[in-house]
Amino acid sequence: MLVTNGTTDALRHVLAALAPGDVAVEDPGYRAAVETIRGAGRRVHDLPATEPVTDLAGLAAAYLTPAHQHPLGRVMPAPDRLAALAAARDADALLLEDDYDSEFRYDVAPVPALATLDRDRVAYLGTASKSVAPSLRLGWLVPPPRLLAAIDERRRVTHDATPWPVQRAFVALLREGYVDKVVRTARRVYAERAPRVVAALAPYAELAGTPAGMYSTWLLPEAAARRARDAAARAGFRVNLLSDYCRSARLTGLVVGFGGVSDAELDAALAVLVGALR
Ligand SMILES: Cc1ncc(COP(=O)(O)O)c(C=O)c1O
Repeated sequence: MLVTNGTTDALRHVLAALAPGDVAVEDPGYRAAVETIRGAGRRVHDLPATEPVTDLAGLAAAYLTPAHQHPLGRVMPAPDRLAALAAARDADALLLEDDYDSEFRYDVAPVPALATLDRDRVAYLGTASKSVAPSLRLGWLVPPPRLLAAIDERRRVTHDATPWPVQRAFVALLREGYVDKVVRTARRVYAERAPRVVAALAPYAELAGTPAGMYSTWLLPEAAARRARDAAARAGFRVNLLSDYCRSARLTGLVVGFGGVSDAELDAALAVLVGALR
């Protein structure tokens, strides 16, 4: 396992060690991953996020969020996991598993990582951005064993390391039980907030996936989504348009985060959204 400066940094390391070739990314999908892959000089192919991955022919890798599809919120079912692994083996491609928030499940135990099924076909990317803070810039990468030496060597020659004080700080937070406590508390808080968001928005929009993590995604016509987004902005809240996460996909709606606010702010934001959608 390698300590990284977050998911995007881990992705850069894997891409630098990987054979040339285009990379498929779920569509809609994580915009930072798309930018990172393009920044590494590779073309991005669109993988419809609502369908199983069955064909990766000609691609070097595929970037997936199996535990909680970002941003639709779907958990990748077991048959789809096996299909993605089979497609990767057939194409000799690597699966890049972004496991960004599996600590935050409310209904069931954390979803097991895809990487547990095949360590040679999957690079596992974890992050402290959700459990501690994105600005910590700390994550971890479990690359397939065949890439480990190349990634290690490149980091050594480029003096690329996660700052030592950040690593020490995280170790202290782990040892003192802070990370466990934050995750347990946050899980309780989000488990209570997720259904509140559902209760408020369900009369006006269709929930796209499983409520998990710190956001839920709502399908709506684009005009209604924009109306709600603009009303939220006027009230001082940022809500994202689902269409901003789409490349060829034509899904519209809102991605509503409920992590970085107080309960009172969440209620105020929901009232504004409901007022705009009613
Ligand atoms: C899908 C997804 N992956 C990963 C991350 C974390 O990225 P990083 O570790 O680079 O902050 C986030 C957001 O914080 C995310 O939404």
